[in-house]
Amino acid sequence: MLAFLVLAGLATASGWSSRGTVQQPLNHSRHDSETFAQRFLVNDTFRAGASAPVFLMVGGENDIETWASILGGQVFDLAQQFGASVVALEHRGFGMSTLVGDSLADLSALSVGQAVRDVFSFYDQAVGHLGLAPRDAPWVAFGCSYSGLVAAFAAQPEGGGRGGVGRASPLAGVVASSAPLRAQTRFDNYTNALMLAMADPAAGGSARCGAAVQASLAAGAALVAEGTRGWEELAAGWGFCSAPTSLIDAQWAWRFVTEYTLGFQFVQESRGGIISYACAKALGAGPAALAPVAAILNVSSQGQCVDAAPLADFVRELRNTTVAPSESARQYTWLKCTELGWFHTCDAPDGCTAAGAAPAAGGGPLPLSLFQTLCMDALGIGPGAQAAAGAALNERFGGTAPPGREDGRVQYVTGDADPWRFLGADPQASFSPPVVRVEGGWHCSDMDPLSPYTPAPVRAARASVRASVARFLSSP
Ligand SMILES: *[C@@H]1O[C@H](CO)[C@@H](O)[C@H](O)[C@H]1NC(C)=O
Ligand SMILES: *[C@@H]1O[C@H](CO)[C@@H](O)[C@H](O)[C@H]1NC(C)=O
Ligand SMILES: *[C@@H]1O[C@H](CO)[C@@H](O)[C@H](O)[C@H]1NC(C)=O
Ligand SMILES: *[C@@H]1O[C@H](CO)[C@@H](O)[C@H](O)[C@H]1NC(C)=O
Ligand SMILES: *[C@@H]1O[C@H](CO)[C@@H](O)[C@H](O)[C@H]1NC(C)=O
Repeated sequence: MLAFLVLAGLATASGWSSRGTVQQPLNHSRHDSETFAQRFLVNDTFRAGASAPVFLMVGGENDIETWASILGGQVFDLAQQFGASVVALEHRGFGMSTLVGDSLADLSALSVGQAVRDVFSFYDQAVGHLGLAPRDAPWVAFGCSYSGLVAAFAAQPEGGGRGGVGRASPLAGVVASSAPLRAQTRFDNYTNALMLAMADPAAGGSARCGAAVQASLAAGAALVAEGTRGWEELAAGWGFCSAPTSLIDAQWAWRFVTEYTLGFQFVQESRGGIISYACAKALGAGPAALAPVAAILNVSSQGQCVDAAPLADFVRELRNTTVAPSESARQYTWLKCTELGWFHTCDAPDGCTAAGAAPAAGGGPLPLSLFQTLCMDALGIGPGAQAAAGAALNERFGGTAPPGREDGRVQYVTGDADPWRFLGADPQASFSPPVVRVEGGWHCSDMDPLSPYTPAPVRAARASVRASVARFLSSP
């Protein structure tokens, strides 16, 4: 999901006082495990005093430089306010923290549970032989999106609050923004959540805009089911470079439109009203059913044709095991196919653009089989593996209602225009501190650098986060 943020070209945190690697076991459950080198970065610009707090940026599904730029807006502001040292830890398997040799061939040690234990082990080494901080320095971890999940789970006893190895977390506190907390095979709320954001005035949308885009996506979903003639009509209507030539490629193209293009727009909202801009385009489009979405696609593709490539192209990319630190699709797909799921399935013929759309006999544009094909063809992972591992993960860490959620040590932040909120902190459960809900807030909105355009609800969320960090640092 954060590939979108990367594309949006955020300012990167410029420099680092030092950088290095730590040796970590591939398997934290084995004393005789082989190790790999995990990369970290340090910025001591704001560090005040020997026992200054350490703010740990927890890396996610990309290289650490990218993560530092995603998290850097809020974390550096807080570091300045609290005189903290900033340390960024790359997620195992991503960037330069490759696992086995200089290759992405063997990803068997890439798992959520091991990544969470890396945080514990990194802390030990940082206050031990690395001497990055003394043992009495309080640590606060920050993560957003998937990295928010890793950070939040690292507040639980090592290995998970239910059935882990029991050792308490060394973290004084965690800020987890837009963190999906639960593995879930079918994430079929995703498309409708995009529609809700386009209909939400607080996010820059309107009811008319939501309805227009909804009808347009639904018309596209209907064409996916219609065979060659429908695929050609879809390609013409949405301005694809070429028409899909098989059902699976038509499905993949529809997914591309919803996820990579509309989804991209929603994230971009953070940088100055893109939802309202997209809505103006959609509402100004012609009367044709496909026109509103076509008008938005035309903005993203800058007037060029839309490259909705066949599934086989993506599979070929995923099968490439050459390490390129900025490439992360293979590893992130591995995490989804082996554990997290999060497949944006849709089994309703209307394209799941309406709330709770019911599956129907004819199926929808994104059947689970599409994602199972991807996992098998790209990574050799069969159906069923993810569901079992995902259930185990949810059991160990508690999913959207994690154990210890009232201990005052994790500040969750969710955006109510962010599709990922459906996998975030359970609104029915009690949390302390209470979950900060950002009205009209997008994915990880509180992490972005402040700008004159930062909306009031995001500013208020940052103030709440700051108060929680102050509490983390003052409680023993
Ligand atoms: C550390 O972070 C600050 C704030 O983002 C930045 O100004 C500085 O260039 C960074 N690098 C170093 C080496 O201090
Ligand atoms: C890690 O080691 C444990 C204990 O030996 C074992 O049960 C588990 O399968 C190992 N995990 C991996 C991914 O090899
Ligand atoms: C698509 O965008 C280009 C500019 O990028 C513009 O010139 C053209 O008119 C747009 N076409 C439609 C159908 O909106
Ligand atoms: C595999 O990935 C590397 C690194 O991104 C790239 O240089 C190479 O061209 C790719 N190979 C193929 C066959 O696509
Ligand atoms: C999310 O999915 C659930 C279960 O399918 C459904 O009841 C609910 O209406 C959906 N919500 C939205 C906003 O689509």
